[in-house]
Amino acid sequence: MMKKIIDQLLLVACSGVILFNCTSNQETSKAYDEKMKEEDQHSFARPDEAVVTHLNWDAKVNFKLKKIQAIASLTIRTSSEAKQLVLDTKDLAIASVMNGNNEVLEFDLGEDLPFVGSPLTISITPQTKNVVITYETSEKAEALQWLEPSQTTDKAYPFLFTQSQAILARSWIPIQDSPGIRFTYNAKVQVPSDLLALMSASNPLEKNNTGVYEFAMKQAIPAYLMALSVGDIQFSTLGDRSGVYAEPSVLAKASAEFEDLEKMIGAAEYLYGPYRWDRYDIIVLPSSFPFGGMENPRLTFATPTILAGDKSLTSLVAHELAHSWSGNLVTNANWNDFWLNEGFTVYFEYRIMEAVYGRDYSEMLALLSLQDLKAEIVDMKAAGDFKDTSLKLDLAGRNPDDGMTSIAYDKGYFFLRLLEETVGRDKFDAFLKDYFTSNSFKTMTTKGFIERLQSQLFDAYQLDIKPEFYEAWIYNPDLPENCPVPVSDKFENVDKALATWISNQSKEELAASYGSDNWSTHEWLRFVRGLPDSLSKAQMSNLDEAFGFTATGNSEVFDAWAIHVIANQYEEGYEQLESFLVNTGRRKFLMPLYREFVKTPEGKEMAKAIYEKARPNYHFVASSSIDALLEM
Ligand code: BES
Ligand code: ZN
Repeated sequence: MMKKIIDQLLLVACSGVILFNCTSNQETSKAYDEKMKEEDQHSFARPDEAVVTHLNWDAKVNFKLKKIQAIASLTIRTSSEAKQLVLDTKDLAIASVMNGNNEVLEFDLGEDLPFVGSPLTISITPQTKNVVITYETSEKAEALQWLEPSQTTDKAYPFLFTQSQAILARSWIPIQDSPGIRFTYNAKVQVPSDLLALMSASNPLEKNNTGVYEFAMKQAIPAYLMALSVGDIQFSTLGDRSGVYAEPSVLAKASAEFEDLEKMIGAAEYLYGPYRWDRYDIIVLPSSFPFGGMENPRLTFATPTILAGDKSLTSLVAHELAHSWSGNLVTNANWNDFWLNEGFTVYFEYRIMEAVYGRDYSEMLALLSLQDLKAEIVDMKAAGDFKDTSLKLDLAGRNPDDGMTSIAYDKGYFFLRLLEETVGRDKFDAFLKDYFTSNSFKTMTTKGFIERLQSQLFDAYQLDIKPEFYEAWIYNPDLPENCPVPVSDKFENVDKALATWISNQSKEELAASYGSDNWSTHEWLRFVRGLPDSLSKAQMSNLDEAFGFTATGNSEVFDAWAIHVIANQYEEGYEQLESFLVNTGRRKFLMPLYREFVKTPEGKEMAKAIYEKARPNYHFVASSSIDALLEM
């Protein structure tokens, strides 16, 4: 059914000559967009006919009903033959649709299709400039997570946050929810007067006593970057243009953890050009936030699981910051090109980390990535998803979430690193800087990138590089043999230590010969991940007594350890494991653990029992993945 609708969409979008009312400046960007264009299979929008350019959002956040009641006033640009404006919606109750003169417009809310929701088709004329939609969200709104006070860190006030990427913005705003369509926005949001509201926009620094907050995002963004957070939130400054928001009890820890943020912003600008979004703030959300981080412009959303106390997990901040260029400035045109967002961002992230903490540090990150990537390819092959191990995806008729694997991130990273190593860092950096500058606030397709790579890099420097070189990386599954291999003396040391430990299990020798007392989080991660799959009870206990893995406060190390706890039925670790699963909503941590559980029937039973307690704490994007895994 969806395929049929999409095919129809393609037909309509491709047929007929559609003329835009536009100035010559827009003409240029239109010519550009045409060239770069590929259809977005996950949006009903028909931007060639009528496209949203600005959103004015007037909303009331109702915690009692767990609903947002809102008026979305859209400014649109129409073609000379426009008859309809098509928006994406999911589970929205539409009360009325009017034009800017308060005249009622006819509309049709289409059938609700899996993943993509219902098209909202509004009758317009080429003269229609504004469309005003009064609506409310439903209890099912997939982007929204409403938390009871007990589900927050401080347990005193309720909390709401959104997660719009990839295609969930449509569950709280009727909008053209396609990464290729950008608009500016203003918002006025009414929340309970004891709470603060924040958006991916200019933000207040503190509560006022009215509970009404106003926002402006003057740079055009795609819908997946729409974001809102409401709670008992305080702010602390980190530098001239950065700061951190969090619940009161988390604020001090968060601001200590992110003390290097200004350095990261400086390093990023030095590498690839000015930061274009004025401010960069981070909000640390309650623990049910389903991702490590989300690059909402001006306000990164982050999981509290990166607060390790020693700054050791802050590469995540470098990652979300890097998205301010890769993703937010130059945006994947559709979700099949997701690697353009994430692969570039991982590359950029490691360059920031290298600039701030040195090459030794960034090489450890890169090696952990390579390990992840190889494991992911083996798993995907086994699961029959081998096709999805190519960078360019085919997500037609599927949930775009299916493509959000470490392939886009890590294979994307290694491809860009290979390019760097092939042409030399100076040339590659100049190419990237220009890529970000000349495509700012635009979209990019894989094809567009390849053309640019050929002309601006290979041809410009007369490098004889054949298309087969990059095509294999982009269009073929698996990992090409010329994948770069990061070098880390520290990890070589850990690997030797591992071999020693496996043979004699001596903590003293690890400390004396391999310096394990001073290992960083990344060395411990290498160690824990390198442990054999099968360990005896005695070996597990020895490890735990020696290194305190079960009691570690480091979420990444615990997550890696917990795999062994499950695989080896290490009962001493169960209590912590359950508490971790119940209190953490970050999908990247949860999925490997639940996957490990379901490998045995007893494990699956245990997983189900824990999940029953944990599920109310998970956001839709996590619970929907785990529901499927546990066949709930
Ligand atoms: N944009 C992503 C998160 C995302 C991807 C949300 C796809 C929805 C769909 C974000 O930038 C990200 O990659 N987060 C990672 C952290 C990172 C350090 C790899 C995460 O959440 O683990
Ligand atoms: Zn990312």
